[in-house]
Amino acid sequence: MAVPHLLSFALFSITIIMIHPSHSSADTDIPKISAMEKPLKVNLSLYYESLCPYCRNFIINQLVKIFNSDLISIVNVRMVPWGNAQVAESNKIIICQHGEDECYLNTIHACAINIWPDLREHFNFIYCVENQGLHIQDNQHSQDAEAAWKACSAWLGLDQKLIEDCYNGGYGKKLSLQYASETSNLNPQHSYVPWVTVNKQPLYDDYPNFIAHICNAYSGKSVVEACTSNSSIPADKENSIHPVCYAS
Ligand SMILES: *[C@@H]1O[C@H](CO)[C@@H](O)[C@H](O)[C@H]1NC(C)=O
Ligand SMILES: *[C@@H]1O[C@H](CO)[C@@H](O)[C@H](O)[C@H]1NC(C)=O
Repeated sequence: MAVPHLLSFALFSITIIMIHPSHSSADTDIPKISAMEKPLKVNLSLYYESLCPYCRNFIINQLVKIFNSDLISIVNVRMVPWGNAQVAESNKIIICQHGEDECYLNTIHACAINIWPDLREHFNFIYCVENQGLHIQDNQHSQDAEAAWKACSAWLGLDQKLIEDCYNGGYGKKLSLQYASETSNLNPQHSYVPWVTVNKQPLYDDYPNFIAHICNAYSGKSVVEACTSNSSIPADKENSIHPVCYAS
């Protein structure tokens, strides 16, 4: 097992505090609805790649707010780890924007989503891996990348072997190619990541205001505290320009 870096562990402790307060409640459950009612959850999809720093920032500083609020009761979040990667030579080779580590971790994320379809479980894992702050290394997937996700699976009590089997057995690559297909079928096409859609509509560079878009898209009757004007969730006003990783 990887020896966790002390700083990473400190950050992770914060992560636990941030993500887990509402974990035990039943708020991720699909609301019990009668056959007459339509499902009213808003669908948010994040198209991202594991080593784009702006994706990382969005996941660990912004998207996480959904889990720390009652937004989680009205949103389905879908993580799509592919981003600006490309397939070459009829699906034999995957080329990623930030090198081999990115391809590797995109596939590890894809495996985690498949193995733990529960949003909180795979989001906690993805959050943790992103929060490791890996540096981009352009060679074979590095020991750092492997150590990072293994530390996260250990901390979260997620069976490492399930991910290894998924990756090593080639199933992870199959999942990645499905995400490739989903990403290339976006309409309109994505031009950068993070690419956030709410009910299939891209938010473009207004993605940091995703909470407002969720609230606007929500047509259900529940009172959502995070959507009230005096909500405790601050809008992201840190900077008006939100950098992105452009598709080449
Ligand atoms: C969200 O996605 C689900 C599953 O794909 C779909 O059935 C539902 O209609 C979508 N909701 C909205 C508001 O588009
Ligand atoms: C938020 O606004 C509502 C209605 O305007 C008010 O009743 C409530 O006290 C406010 N909450 C806070 C924390 O200010």
